[in-house]
Amino acid sequence: MCGIVGYIGYREAYPIVLKGLQRLEYRGYDSAGIALYNEKELKVSKTKGKVADLKKKMEQEVDTSGTLGMGHTRWATHGVPNDVNSHPHVSNSGDLVIIHNGIIENYETLKKELTARGYVFHSDTDTEVLVNLIEDVIKKEKVKLGKAVQIALTQTVGAYAIAVFDKKKPNEIVVARLGSPLAIGVGKDEYFIASDASPFIEFTNNAIYLEDGEMAVVRRDKGVKVRKIKDDSLVDPYIQELQLNLEQIEKNNFDHFMLKEIYEQPSAITDTYRGRLLADEGIIRMAGVDDNLERFLNAKRILIVACGTSWHAGLVAEYIFEDLARIPVEVEYASEFRYRNPIINPDDVVIAISQSGETADTMAAIKLAKEKGAFVFGVCNVVGSSISRETHAGAYTHAGPEIGVASTKAFTTQITVLTLIALKLAKAKGSISNTDFHMHLQELETIPQKIEVALESNAHIKEVAFKYKDARNCLYLGRGFNFPVALEGALKLKEISYIHAEGYPAAEMKHGPIALIDEEMPVVVIATRKGHYEKVVSNIQEIKSRQGKIIGIVTQGDTSVRDLADHVIEIPDTIESLTPLLTTIPLQLLSYHIAVMLGKNVDQPRNLAKSVTVE
Ligand code: F6R
Repeated sequence: MCGIVGYIGYREAYPIVLKGLQRLEYRGYDSAGIALYNEKELKVSKTKGKVADLKKKMEQEVDTSGTLGMGHTRWATHGVPNDVNSHPHVSNSGDLVIIHNGIIENYETLKKELTARGYVFHSDTDTEVLVNLIEDVIKKEKVKLGKAVQIALTQTVGAYAIAVFDKKKPNEIVVARLGSPLAIGVGKDEYFIASDASPFIEFTNNAIYLEDGEMAVVRRDKGVKVRKIKDDSLVDPYIQELQLNLEQIEKNNFDHFMLKEIYEQPSAITDTYRGRLLADEGIIRMAGVDDNLERFLNAKRILIVACGTSWHAGLVAEYIFEDLARIPVEVEYASEFRYRNPIINPDDVVIAISQSGETADTMAAIKLAKEKGAFVFGVCNVVGSSISRETHAGAYTHAGPEIGVASTKAFTTQITVLTLIALKLAKAKGSISNTDFHMHLQELETIPQKIEVALESNAHIKEVAFKYKDARNCLYLGRGFNFPVALEGALKLKEISYIHAEGYPAAEMKHGPIALIDEEMPVVVIATRKGHYEKVVSNIQEIKSRQGKIIGIVTQGDTSVRDLADHVIEIPDTIESLTPLLTTIPLQLLSYHIAVMLGKNVDQPRNLAKSVTVE
């Protein structure tokens, strides 16, 4: 959480840093700030609110010249979002400037020690403590900024991606990372610092991704020197060529990133299986699985760890793995798993699912599983992310950047990857017949086109959204493979429209939630023809007799649910295990339209951030 960006070179830093912050705003958006140095003066401007508020403030108050600059967009951890707690923070001497993404856990102890030595603190943040600790090291040890950052960091406990400069030495920025991402864009006589590559993609395709425990001194004239924080050893940095392009991170003609990303699902899923799914040959190629096939086949069980939407994808995978590959699966919230002393055996396979690849709880669960000797496989979207590096092997979802805070295409591409793995294992184990295997492969290939068809209901879904936009509560019901989709539909509605919603297995309704149903209660029921259809129709009858309002997600041509429901939204027919890839689409659109009609900030819902790098 929090986005950091910096520039040192020959161009004006302000527009680069500002644009960078706008692109990183998905990481946090409760306050923002920029520091600029123009060879004469240091200017720091910060404000509670969004980057747009900062822009307004800076354009009114501040001279924005300078070829050295840094900016920060915040998701508050220590201290409420206000101007003073916003970053950048400046040291007591007024010389050092810092931006920080992460948490310094022992900041109170450090603060006490520094206060006793005369340091004064203006904010409630851990970051202001860190910048003064660095200053203190410079004074006490008589060392340069790079060394001081290194020494100070060895006294901290916590996680960080930081960038620091000294206005008296304006030719360098010192950066470091542990547990929060940090990329250095390498241009000609100019360098960029950012939480991900999006702020500098139009300037350079070359990036160095710092590893955990590394720091770098980035010099305008002499380039980048990377070393390990702990033992001071120099590291030869790997300069990676970026695959990202500008179009992927712009909204294009869509009103919101979320809508763009919903519409990108056909192409995102095609990208997910490109080169992996060879339907005509009856082959699934996945290097991460092929190279570790024995581990998968010998696994007594598969443990899936994830959070939020990724956890829902894990639940879908549980149904698919058990149904097709006949391997027992347990799905765990990473945040529970890491602290509950779970039983993990060396012959377990742990699959960690994460869009961002940075989620702190998922990362901790992976480390725990590795300590216990399990083989850990990652399913991530962000290439080179911490989780993709921490796992023994993995498969990327290749969904492209997901910028809307509410996850959409990440979910369906995660399910696609997990389905490919399940099918591959089923084939290798012989738990699926050849005919069924081929049928699944052929059908999977048709999914992108079927999603296109599902998207054609957008206008109708908007009408349904208008009818229920003022509901206070909403129930989502599904069975089997679509029970996790009901959970995901409810999560989408709550997080962007702030309407209370719950997902349930349809048959569980009569064990409690049915008491909630009256004429005010919309109930979204996933009632596709394949998958306990008659049972779900009975559940719909039960809702109907209690005057609940029914929105049925049905297979094209359905008549039974149509007769009972207040509204139906059709999706194309497919095999049961693949229905989640289609039933999810109308639920995403329904939440989207309701949130837009309520005037909510769809891409940046309150209190949330895209990558949750704190526990
Ligand atoms: C919901 C959402 C979150 C994330 C969760 C895990 O729309 O986006 O629930 O799914 O924070 O994030 P990742 O997948 O990045 O580990």
